[in-house]
Amino acid sequence: MPTKIEKDAISGQMTTGHEWDGLKELNTPLPRWWLWTLYATILFSLVWVVLYPAIPGTGWKGLTGWTARGDLPAQVAGERARIEPMLARLREATPEQVAADPGLRAFALAGGRGAFAQNCAGCHGSGGQGAQGGYPSLADDDWIYGGSLEAIGHTIRHGVRAGESDEQRGLAMPAFLATGMMTAPQIADTAEWVLSLTGRSTDAAAAGRGEALFTENCASCHGERGEGNRDMGAPRLSDRIWLYGGDKASIVRSISYSRAGVMPAWATRLDPAIVNMLTVYVHSLGGGE
Ligand code: HEC
Ligand code: HEC
Repeated sequence: MPTKIEKDAISGQMTTGHEWDGLKELNTPLPRWWLWTLYATILFSLVWVVLYPAIPGTGWKGLTGWTARGDLPAQVAGERARIEPMLARLREATPEQVAADPGLRAFALAGGRGAFAQNCAGCHGSGGQGAQGGYPSLADDDWIYGGSLEAIGHTIRHGVRAGESDEQRGLAMPAFLATGMMTAPQIADTAEWVLSLTGRSTDAAAAGRGEALFTENCASCHGERGEGNRDMGAPRLSDRIWLYGGDKASIVRSISYSRAGVMPAWATRLDPAIVNMLTVYVHSLGGGE
């Protein structure tokens, strides 16, 4: 119930004029500093609205005409100009020269990491650890085509079975069942022999029959003892690293229908400087030769 505004006898403060059952409300003003801060922010926002494009949907550009988006090209250009001398050197240098120059190498590794995350990690994993289904690890000592700077650079530039240049990697393995070159029992025997190369065969008789079949049909690409052949891109079969799985069923599948992993060629997609960065970066992942 409204009563008259008066000075409260106990606190010495003014009341608001509200009273409930004898209880009166004191009028406690906001602190000065708080009010001034509020006024300052209001003023600030008014100035801001006048200077910058701050009213959505109205097309108001502000007196300065400045936008973050408008600023971006200049920033990007500035950044490009800053790294351009390095990129120019990377374009000219061989990966060996890059690796031998500490400053250039550090720059290449940093850039290579970013370019790898953007272009390669989807297939090869974020740390180059590889993935099931034919995507090889790039961080181990097991190379299909070779782990020297030269070999890695070649693979990146020309790709694998990408069909973009004569220099691409990777022969085609015949699909032995699908083309009728072998029967299913022969393939099972050959797979048993392949298992025996890593001491995993459980059927010595079948493996024995498979040995001759292997020599006849497979050794020309994979080597007499399945040691692999980098020129052909035929993986080593005598280790425990598999692109498509090393259990008998997977091996039978590989022989029956063949595999043909594809990796894009990057020479046509990326700046040669980036290809060099990637080469040095991949070489540094752990398996560089
Ligand atoms: C679309 C998937 C895909 C992408 C993207 C991809 N790769 Fe590959 N890469 C493959 C496959 C599949 C193979 C194995 C080909 C084979 O079976 O012989 C391979 C093989 C390689 C090899 C040879 C490995 C060896 O053991 O000799 C290197 C090096 C390589 N990739 C680097 C890269 C780099 C660097 C990038 C990024 C610029 C990249 N790859 C992007 C699928 C891909
Ligand atoms: C013309 C050469 C060639 C011949 C002949 C050949 N291969 Fe292959 N083989 C390859 C290539 C190349 C690959 C890799 C395919 C890929 O990377 O996608 C491969 C892949 C494989 C794989 C998969 C390896 C893995 O890591 O998963 C197996 C298993 C295999 N071959 C077994 C055989 C057997 C057994 C024979 C004989 C019956 C044979 N190959 C004949 C070239 C050949």
